Amino acid sequence: MAFPQSFMDELVARSDIVDVVGSYVQLARKGSNLFGLCPFHNEKTGSFSVSPDKQIYYCFGCKKGGGVVNFIMDIENLTFPDAVRFLAKRAGLEVPEETGDREAGRHRQRLLDLNRDAARFYYQMLQQPEGRAVQAYLDRRQIRRATAVKFGMGASLDSWDALLTAMTKKGYTKSELLDAGLVVQNRNGGLYDKFRNRLMLPVIDTRGDVVAFGSRVLDKSEPKYMNSSETPVYSKRRVLYGLNLAKKTKRPNIILCEGNLDIVTLHQAGFDNAVASMGTALTVEQTRLLSRFTKELVLCYDNDNAGKIATERALQILNSSEFSVKVLQLPRRLVDGEYVKQDADDFIKFQGPDAFERLLNGSENGVEFRMAQVAGKYDLTNDEARVAYCEEISGLLASLPSAVEREIYAFRAAELAKITPEAMKQEVQRAFKRRLAQEKKAELRKDLNPTAQLQPKDRSLRYDNIRSARAEEGVLRLLLLDESLFPAEMPLKPEQFSSPLLGRVFGLLWQVREAGRLPSAALLSNELSSEEMSHITAICQQPESVQNGRQALADYIRIIQTEADKRTGAAADPLLAATEKYKDKKGTGGKQHG
Ligand code: CTP
Ligand code: MN
Repeated sequence: MAFPQSFMDELVARSDIVDVVGSYVQLARKGSNLFGLCPFHNEKTGSFSVSPDKQIYYCFGCKKGGGVVNFIMDIENLTFPDAVRFLAKRAGLEVPEETGDREAGRHRQRLLDLNRDAARFYYQMLQQPEGRAVQAYLDRRQIRRATAVKFGMGASLDSWDALLTAMTKKGYTKSELLDAGLVVQNRNGGLYDKFRNRLMLPVIDTRGDVVAFGSRVLDKSEPKYMNSSETPVYSKRRVLYGLNLAKKTKRPNIILCEGNLDIVTLHQAGFDNAVASMGTALTVEQTRLLSRFTKELVLCYDNDNAGKIATERALQILNSSEFSVKVLQLPRRLVDGEYVKQDADDFIKFQGPDAFERLLNGSENGVEFRMAQVAGKYDLTNDEARVAYCEEISGLLASLPSAVEREIYAFRAAELAKITPEAMKQEVQRAFKRRLAQEKKAELRKDLNPTAQLQPKDRSLRYDNIRSARAEEGVLRLLLLDESLFPAEMPLKPEQFSSPLLGRVFGLLWQVREAGRLPSAALLSNELSSEEMSHITAICQQPESVQNGRQALADYIRIIQTEADKRTGAAADPLLAATEKYKDKKGTGGKQHG
């Protein structure tokens, strides 16, 4: 939805970037900027900068950047409207919502409040003597107190109405309690608590709202797990347990497990990137949600038959997605001469976190999995297909950085294709050399061509005309740096910019200014993608002197106009184009362009 302009202005004005970023990153002043350790990539020296003047952040290491709304979008992994709501809450501003939804919205908010209050109640019960049974259960499962707190765990009491009474006292109505699925109605219309004598596991979504509860019995009775039913605030196919925490991980991937307590154990052991689909098969909605946070998924389902089926189904769903997928196969465990099923929780307990880390890192599984996928594409009884298989598989194996791995897997591939290991090894070696040569060439090209570094990282944003683009960057930089530099009349049309992105930003800044508002990078966040925003921030980050701002701006504008005239003139008059080219050649000492 679009938020009213006046609201956005107020929000940006009340969300100082130094305050906002400062509550996530420790910042120290260096000159006119502040520096700290980048929260978006691992580093030891601070290359993350915040400019109070420009109200932007920029990391010289990973090149991420933007305004205050982008920062919240990135660090809390929220969409634009959710980031706006998040900042509004922080600044104590009321978000203007559309009126039609107001009633439903209010009801949803009541249910969320109720869930939060219920979670608080269960949490308090866990700290009381009445929570002793659940405390003992946590000890038995080796769940530390700090971990329980992190997951907001609680205890439902061995009582029919403990929650009902407490929540009624807080002013929640019967129908609200029923709608939230926290109480159940018996045949006579009487209400009783749904969750009793259980370990309570609040399900928290990526916004931080308690949307539902999972729960586990403390003994061997059934049902072992009991979860909230679907409610106006909970649709189980759209939520993943633990994603509220895992979305902040610095690990490169997200691990998908089956069970709630697998997640708890994994986080406790340092794998803060684990989430669970809570016993159900992975849904398309969940993969869409995950795609906001990672590009790589590791499937770590139980190593029994049900787990294999779940893996198969997940792979089918993920097949048409852009995720890279790994399968982490937990080994079975030998007990009294018999191999028994293990889940992630068991594995961590018996084999330890290091062994899990090895399984996770071991590219072995990834390679095997990918090899199996390639093999699956070819009918290896057919000679032609065998040749094509060898070609594709050697390309895949050439991408492995370890020579030992290349050799081992080449051997396996040879076996499969029924060719000699020597022939396969040669093929892989050749592909590997080709790859190295290509990489070297790319490096060299970058060194020789300084303009390559000026280019936006994202290919689709590439500049066609570097001379004009530099001037276009200068114009944006100056206008964002000092709004008093805005000329009275629009000196350029966005179409005159050689870079469509820079032209678009120029147009946006002008619109903001025309509306009598203060142009700032922060106001662009809704209009630009995160890559585009990072690129604009990088531009603002380059040095520019405001002292001669007016003159510099005029110079930049002239360059852009000249280059634009050349383009339009060239299109209209081939003869003129030819002479222009001729002039250019002379001007640069007869050197060829291009
Ligand atoms: N589950 C459920 N209802 C059940 C059984 C299981 O919702 N009756 C879900 C739970 O989210 C559970 C997951 O499926 O965490 C996996 O179930 P299972 O493998 O049976 O249990 P574990 O996770 O191993 O549970 P625990 O270690 O607590 O015994
Ligand atoms: Mn288990």
